[in-house]
Amino acid sequence: MAGHTDNSIVINAPMDLLWDMTNDVESWPRLFSEYGSAEILERDGDTVRFRLALHPDENGTVWSWVSERTPNPETRTVDAHRVETGVFQYMNLHWEYEHVDGGVRMRWTQDFAMKPDAPLDDAGMTERLNRNTAVQMERIKRIVEEAAERAAGGVRFDHTGRRVLVTGGTRGLGRAITLAFARAGANVLTCHRQDGPAVDSLVKELAETPGNHKVVKADIGDEAGVEHLIAECRAHLGSLDVLVNNAGAISHVPFEKLGADEWRRILDINLTGTFLVTQRALPLLTPGASIINVGSKVATVGIPLRAHYTASKAGLTGLTRSLCKELGPLGYRVNLVAPGPVQTEEEVPPEVQERYQRLTALGRLGQPADIAGAVLFLASDLGAWISGETLNVDGGI
Ligand SMILES: NC(=O)c1ccc[n+]([C@@H]2O[C@H](COP(=O)([O-])OP(=O)(O)OC[C@H]3O[C@@H](n4cnc5c(N)ncnc54)[C@H](OP(=O)(O)O)[C@@H]3O)[C@@H](O)[C@H]2O)c1
Repeated sequence: MAGHTDNSIVINAPMDLLWDMTNDVESWPRLFSEYGSAEILERDGDTVRFRLALHPDENGTVWSWVSERTPNPETRTVDAHRVETGVFQYMNLHWEYEHVDGGVRMRWTQDFAMKPDAPLDDAGMTERLNRNTAVQMERIKRIVEEAAERAAGGVRFDHTGRRVLVTGGTRGLGRAITLAFARAGANVLTCHRQDGPAVDSLVKELAETPGNHKVVKADIGDEAGVEHLIAECRAHLGSLDVLVNNAGAISHVPFEKLGADEWRRILDINLTGTFLVTQRALPLLTPGASIINVGSKVATVGIPLRAHYTASKAGLTGLTRSLCKELGPLGYRVNLVAPGPVQTEEEVPPEVQERYQRLTALGRLGQPADIAGAVLFLASDLGAWISGETLNVDGGI
């Protein structure tokens, strides 16, 4: 006689994310409810030897054992066995990951035999393992699917049917904001200046997301570009419930070398562009509309080589405060999100990334989804009495 279990679950997450999260043994105490600790003892190539400990039982005893596992990323399989077998004569485990409709099927099989003096026989242990595996798999599914949603910029706010304009949505923060609104049920129109793969892939992603979305080429640093953008909004969406002034430009120039042209270019896009888009969008705004300007944490902190950029972003704070007063009586809310350092597609030298990371209380750079979350919150009904506010989203700098 021998024991055998075979359980599987379909998880709606990218293969790489599921693979990485479930093969990160150190994180198992968070992933599985049953483990109190996981200590890595040795690594040899892909093989990892580790000690797992359960939470203390009702007598306070902590059961632990050493196991070894070898993930094979090529075949998306893992073979594992208990090195310290405890109550088992042997325990071999095999995991498989396979793309299926609705996500990735993760399958675990266990082959084992109990020692004659073990408190459970093979059949009893089979039943216990099947029961526990179902609980752990459901938990892992929830944790990984939530992580996938966060990684995709998805945020659980309902914006069903809302009409949203996000400027500069093809890359970086604007892309995450655009996709987050689309996934939250909104109809989204966004703009960009340059053609390229980022535009093509956004068009494709939006086409795969329910709703009525559009990507328009329009330069908001230019009055004619703004007119074109608003005409597209009128034709495509008819009206606007949310306006996110996200498009922005930056450059790094020593102050003594900062030319008036570069000063004007940055102010034209970051400050004048926001002014123009907001003013021209006014006739389209619906009662209760929400305007969100994307500023920057450095506007209030300061940073060398970016006098023009910080001046433009500080200008947005004044614009936001004044418009909150002037447009509030019309029922419009105006807020500013001030991001700290966010990891986007832009290449940043590792030493700079580390320096920024150390500045944050949370010890990490922001992700575009972190900013999208703040924007979707402010635009949602949960933010119905928030206006004129600056929301720093910076990991606690
Ligand atoms: N990343 C950060 O760490 C950070 C921190 C604080 C604040 N912010 C602010 O967050 C916003 C987004 O930053 P990001 O890092 O995501 O920037 P990004 O990666 O450079 O993306 C900017 C987006 O805006 C578009 N855009 C730029 N100028 C435009 C214009 N004149 N007209 C129309 N579209 C334009 C770009 O399209 P094209 O490719 O076509 O130019 C692109 O889609 C900016 O306002 C920035 O100042 C960013």
